[in-house]
Amino acid sequence: MSTNHATRSAFAPGKVILFGEHAVVYGQPAIAVPVTQVKASATVTPASPGSGLTIVASDLGADFRLDTAPPDEPLTAAARLTLFHCSTAEPDATLTLRSTIPIASGLGSGTAVSTALIRALAEFLGCPMETAGLSALVFEIEKIHHGTPSGIDNTVIAYQKPVYYRKGTPYEFLEIGEKFSVLIAYSGMPGNTREAVEGVRERWQKEPDRYNQIFSRIGEISQEAKVIIETGNPDHLGSLMNENHELLQEIGVSTPELDQLVFEARNAGALGAKLSGGGLGGHIIALVKSNIDFISGELEKKGAISTLITPVTNRNSNR
Ligand code: PMV
Repeated sequence: MSTNHATRSAFAPGKVILFGEHAVVYGQPAIAVPVTQVKASATVTPASPGSGLTIVASDLGADFRLDTAPPDEPLTAAARLTLFHCSTAEPDATLTLRSTIPIASGLGSGTAVSTALIRALAEFLGCPMETAGLSALVFEIEKIHHGTPSGIDNTVIAYQKPVYYRKGTPYEFLEIGEKFSVLIAYSGMPGNTREAVEGVRERWQKEPDRYNQIFSRIGEISQEAKVIIETGNPDHLGSLMNENHELLQEIGVSTPELDQLVFEARNAGALGAKLSGGGLGGHIIALVKSNIDFISGELEKKGAISTLITPVTNRNSNR
């Protein structure tokens, strides 16, 4: 395979789960959309002969070398997997990573970093990757981050499109019938997806019938939301978000801080709100139509560390 030693860069957006988190791990459908206002980037530049590959994670203030990092260090694991996929020896290069996606916030920071890293390194090596192959490699790194990921995060981030995802079946991209806006409010408490997923699994094992019923209802909510999103009338998503949040509370992944932000969002005029992602911290989302700045301001007054509005459209926006 020929290698190309010109500098290469790649980007990947953040993401947010609109409906179906956790239930998606148990085979129910879920909906996720890219968040293009935040992104991870990777740049690979040639380095002096014999220097090998160094990964510089600027935001973590850390450097990793391929030959010394432990096998489960996710950044070097992503680089090794890319070299293996491209049947290429370690290049002499510096791979610099940057990200504006808050870590452990549920916006897909780790997934976006892996995606940008693999895409940039593969291009540097002269073996650009199809999106399906890229998503599959990122999924392998997701296992290091999360243990038993459903695959929704790597799919939405690698394809950069709204996705209706059900494990084990071909994913579908969503056609957005009418643009709508989602407000994302970060609680300031880092989420822990691995712990949340493991906790749900333990409780599901103790009460399988009850949990299966909840997962089924969450799956129905995702199906109903898909129809609404595709046919327009997105205002009707609000009540589905509210119900989805209650079910996430029931499976034990919400926190008082997330519940409070959900309450404040609705109180300030959002059409609906729920936690999003793994939970136990991280962020909430709210469906907002009017008085968006007011609702954001209220959430920031009532404990949100930051807020962000993301439009959900068919466009691969913000690029
Ligand atoms: O915490 P996040 O945003 O990475 O979301 C995880 C979503 C889960 O459904 C909880 C887990 C998964 O792998 O789908």
